[in-house]
Amino acid sequence: AVEASLLVQTEEDRSAIAEAAKMLRAGGTVAFPTETVYGLGADARNTAAVEAVFAAKGRPSDNPLIVHIADRSALDGLVTAVHPTAQALIDAFWPGPLTLVLPVRSGVLSPLVTAGLDTVGVRMPDHPVALALLSAAACPVAAPSANRSGRPSPTLASHVLDDLAGYIGGVLDGGAAGVGLESTVVQVQPDGMIAVLRPGGITTEQLASVAGADAVDTAPAAVVELAAAAAADASSASGPEFAAGGSSPGPRAPGMKYTHYAPRGWLGVVRGASPQRVAAEATLLLQAAQQAGENTGLLLFAEHKALYPAEAAACVVSLGSLSSPEEGARSLYAALRRFDEAGATYILAEACPETGLGAAIMNRLMKAAGGSVIEAG
Ligand code: TXA
Ligand code: MG
Repeated sequence: AVEASLLVQTEEDRSAIAEAAKMLRAGGTVAFPTETVYGLGADARNTAAVEAVFAAKGRPSDNPLIVHIADRSALDGLVTAVHPTAQALIDAFWPGPLTLVLPVRSGVLSPLVTAGLDTVGVRMPDHPVALALLSAAACPVAAPSANRSGRPSPTLASHVLDDLAGYIGGVLDGGAAGVGLESTVVQVQPDGMIAVLRPGGITTEQLASVAGADAVDTAPAAVVELAAAAAADASSASGPEFAAGGSSPGPRAPGMKYTHYAPRGWLGVVRGASPQRVAAEATLLLQAAQQAGENTGLLLFAEHKALYPAEAAACVVSLGSLSSPEEGARSLYAALRRFDEAGATYILAEACPETGLGAAIMNRLMKAAGGSVIEAG
């Protein structure tokens, strides 16, 4: 019954939020909007509820969930220490799209949430419906993105239903998610270095503005290793082994070893010395693919549309202007879903500069492409 449209601030909405909170407290699963993407929530203390989240998503059990809170004061009950640099990031970016990986307090959360690690990822979402739900539920809420594992994350309630209808208790509809890409996941090292485990809504430049550019590590060794292992073993469902015991030092991002956000068709990212070269190469490849009977798709930036012939691909989707990566971030996952709806079997996507939100866009595109890159020279 929570599956209804919801406009914030009306009486009806408050009752939908109250009902959703009740479902969470009773061990149910409820999807809800955040400022990044929709999440699938469960009481993070309740193992059966968390199990239902993993089952609905088809998520491997060694990939931990992010815990969502509505108040800074709730953090101390979940973790044993907050590094001063982590606190500075909290002060700067909470509520907002930043997840901090911190040493978990034992005995509070279901061990499934942390997948056996001795750390937990925590964030405070900047969305009125999410915050109202978290306050009403009055418990830590574990919430991965509310998509089937391996599908693009949902930025609309309808995406959640497309993937998970029948497997979850309900979804609160808060309209389109804001940023459109997931939170940035960071872990502050004992020496104060910020390891970026997953780029996202808070940019490297924003992190640097708080801690200094020298204190931000955008390619921590463990993440690079896992990503390489994933590329080498993209077809394996379980992926390569990694140290989950927390005994080995250094940041870990278990999610990085899985192929994510993959459209159903083949996807390649095209980059090159100039937009003209990229467009020329992509045009040739798309023509050849079309002749070979492929159903083609092209993901481009608005400025470059004129560089392609009128019917460059059967399905052409624009990520908006290159000068506004915010627009690209907001529309990326819906674009990937559109290729699926169009039945595209061969898709090319233009690369973009990895500054600001462009870094997170490229990270997701490269994952969706399973690392397939075409160099246009
Ligand atoms: O924006 C977001 O973060 C969304 C919304 C719903 O909040 N949530 C989200 O959750 O993206 P999920 O489960 O799709 O991604 C969580 C990522 C995974 O890559 C996971 O491996 C990583 O965070 N993670 C979670 N706990 C961790 C931990 N203790 N140590 C390292 N990485 C962790
Ligand atoms: Mg996800």
